[in-house]
Amino acid sequence: MINITVINGTEKHGVTYRLKEIFLTAFRNNANITEYYLPKDCPNFCNGCVNCMTKGENTCKDERYIGKIEKSLLEADLIVMTSPAYVFHTTGAMKAFLDHFAYRWMPHRPAPEMFGKRAVIITQCLGAGAKSAAKDIKHSLSWWGISKIEIFTGALMGDIVWERLSKKKRAELTKKVKKLSWKFAQTDYTKPAYTNLIIKIRFFVCRLMQQTLHKNDPEYLDGKYWAAQGWLGRTRPWK
Ligand SMILES: Cc1cc2nc3c(=O)[nH]c(=O)nc-3n(C[C@H](O)[C@H](O)[C@H](O)COP(=O)(O)O)c2cc1C
Repeated sequence: MINITVINGTEKHGVTYRLKEIFLTAFRNNANITEYYLPKDCPNFCNGCVNCMTKGENTCKDERYIGKIEKSLLEADLIVMTSPAYVFHTTGAMKAFLDHFAYRWMPHRPAPEMFGKRAVIITQCLGAGAKSAAKDIKHSLSWWGISKIEIFTGALMGDIVWERLSKKKRAELTKKVKKLSWKFAQTDYTKPAYTNLIIKIRFFVCRLMQQTLHKNDPEYLDGKYWAAQGWLGRTRPWK
């Protein structure tokens, strides 16, 4: 059994929900699937206190939401993120969620577990904007350290209600999402995903920065974290 964590960028059971359900069909009998719906499961905005960065993530005012979801993300073999396009971007709820994980960006305290993970982003729109919505999410995931990120985007070009779309359009979207789902259903999750060169370069640039910061102030939280992981020495978060 693999673990799948799904972060839904909307609570609406609309087209995004439909496509996500189609994606998950191949995993229903062989995966533990945990789903979160935004904004319900992370209802507040980041207020910019930067406590997560300077004092530790446990001091976040929203820790009761974030802690639970993060545990689920770290235990996941596959992360699925979904969002409709809202004014050419991801939903505000998804953006508010991602803001809470700024401390997990590579220049701060990336989780070692993220480097071997796989992720899928599902976005769609009426006419245009699904690609930039997916990019919003991908930006965070890749700075969390994930290399293996695949994106599904769709444009409805007709109606915004699934049942009112033409049969042809529904079949086209279903085929495309099933193809991606099949690919991830065939994956061997006992092996971590490959860490690509871009992620490695980012890691080494951040490592240089953390080396200096740690030397100047051994009590600086991010530097201490990098040292404790062994990353300022020879240890790396990928295999
Ligand atoms: C606030 C808002 C902004 C939207 N912005 C865009 C947009 O920029 N481009 C687009 O093609 N569709 C846009 N749409 C339409 C939705 O992306 C589209 O209806 C989508 O299918 C909704 O997904 P859902 O059924 O999962 O809610 C917008 C809808 C809303 C509510």
